[in-house]
Amino acid sequence: MRKKLAAGNWKMNGLKASLTEVEALIAAHPAPACEVLLCPPATLVSAMAALAAGRIAVGGQDCHPKASGAHTGDISAAMLKDAGASHVILGHSERRADHAETDALVCAKSEAALAEGLTAVICVGETEAERDAGATLAVVGRQLAGSVPAQATAATVVIAYEPVWAIGTGRTPTLEQIAEVHDFIRAELVGRFGAEGDGVRLLYGGSVKPANAAEIFAVSNVDGALVGGASLKAADFGAIVAAL
Ligand code: PGA
Repeated sequence: MRKKLAAGNWKMNGLKASLTEVEALIAAHPAPACEVLLCPPATLVSAMAALAAGRIAVGGQDCHPKASGAHTGDISAAMLKDAGASHVILGHSERRADHAETDALVCAKSEAALAEGLTAVICVGETEAERDAGATLAVVGRQLAGSVPAQATAATVVIAYEPVWAIGTGRTPTLEQIAEVHDFIRAELVGRFGAEGDGVRLLYGGSVKPANAAEIFAVSNVDGALVGGASLKAADFGAIVAAL
């Protein structure tokens, strides 16, 4: 039985004052039936983890493949862990696009995260042009094969399917399209990792909001969501947590 996961990705949003949203979320959902994870900018990981005190999980949004060294502006998995993170988002399409991250780099970062005991939330997803060309499953399959490390387990890796064209656009795939990709990802993981692959949580991400969360959560092989914009407000993210 896979435990459901509601994950929020604050992206490059949030100042110390934003932590009141976390307080409000925890106050409104003191004992959620699912796992709840928030990934703020690195500057807030420590303060959010202290505030959450284990009641929700806190994660980073990226890490470097190396443990330390001369890499100005980067952050290591050990640093995130030291700040109180238990998870890290890796290979988000915005990083793949803005920082030219390849599958091999995402895989190396995931290995670094696992080596520190962080759970890697590895993102995959096609662009609109790729979907229009009928290449969705080929693209997602290639990203999965290249980005998910060999040592992945159900406890240490979460996969987020995030169609690039659905992120921040208010557009979502049909429920059939979500099911098709999630069923495909499940089959790929089982093919590669056997029973362990059956335990890996699969999140849908891209314009999840209170109004569409419940129907998306009812789709086969959807074990939760990775939520951007709607995770910034306690009321919206709380409604998604409740739907899950
Ligand atoms: P969105 O972002 O919910 O704002 O579409 C999702 C994501 O990029 O993780």
